Amino acid sequence: MNSFGIREPRFERPLGRKLRWINRLLRALKWGGEVVSTPDPALQMSTLEQRINLWHLAEQPLGYGVPGDYVDLGCYDGQQSTLIARAIDGQRPLHLFDSFETSFGLYRDVLEVLLEHFAALSLPSPVTHKGRFEQTIPSELPPVIAFAQIDCGVGGAPEWHRTIVRLCLSSVWERLSKRGHRRDSGLPRPRVEVDGSLPLHQAPRG
Ligand SMILES: C[S@@+](CC[C@H](N)C(=O)[O-])C[C@H]1O[C@@H](n2cnc3c(N)ncnc32)[C@H](O)[C@@H]1O
Repeated sequence: MNSFGIREPRFERPLGRKLRWINRLLRALKWGGEVVSTPDPALQMSTLEQRINLWHLAEQPLGYGVPGDYVDLGCYDGQQSTLIARAIDGQRPLHLFDSFETSFGLYRDVLEVLLEHFAALSLPSPVTHKGRFEQTIPSELPPVIAFAQIDCGVGGAPEWHRTIVRLCLSSVWERLSKRGHRRDSGLPRPRVEVDGSLPLHQAPRG
């Protein structure tokens, strides 16, 4: 595993002096844990643990020879997409979907920033699908999907979020390979409300 990729410094809010001091104390006491800063949504869209999981999940379809493309629905500036791209190492097409309308305080063209992140890491260019999911899904989804991540929360009304997640889930499900992965993030609570007819932790298709 590429631990440098997963710990990219730009994703972490730096620890202040107080927290660094507390961590020194915890180490001296051999407490076995450390204090971490709360994620800043403008800088960090996932925790270190989520990125480690994502890396392993993204590698598995390759390892098990699951056919299909990779899809990231709600890629924002590509923080997690670059991780997926590194895990698949150019072996499969990576499709990124987003309206790129929400800047989360970035104050830059989000798609441009995403492409800069890919270029900075010398990753192959992803296939980008700019537009609202309501317009791009399912028509622009690849016909066979090995791996899909759905991460489309923007802090809007839960009902609206639910409709979008339901569209993403049902469209991906139709195209998901046997033994394909689908990872969902930031789903509205309670989870079962997303779609009673499509269990979120459904067994792999077979
Ligand atoms: C939480 S962010 C995704 C973070 C991203 N996965 C990352 O790791 O950086 C949610 C994204 O979903 C996108 N999104 C939400 N609803 C959408 C819709 N209806 N159509 C297109 N994009 C949408 C937003 O533009 C936003 O970039």
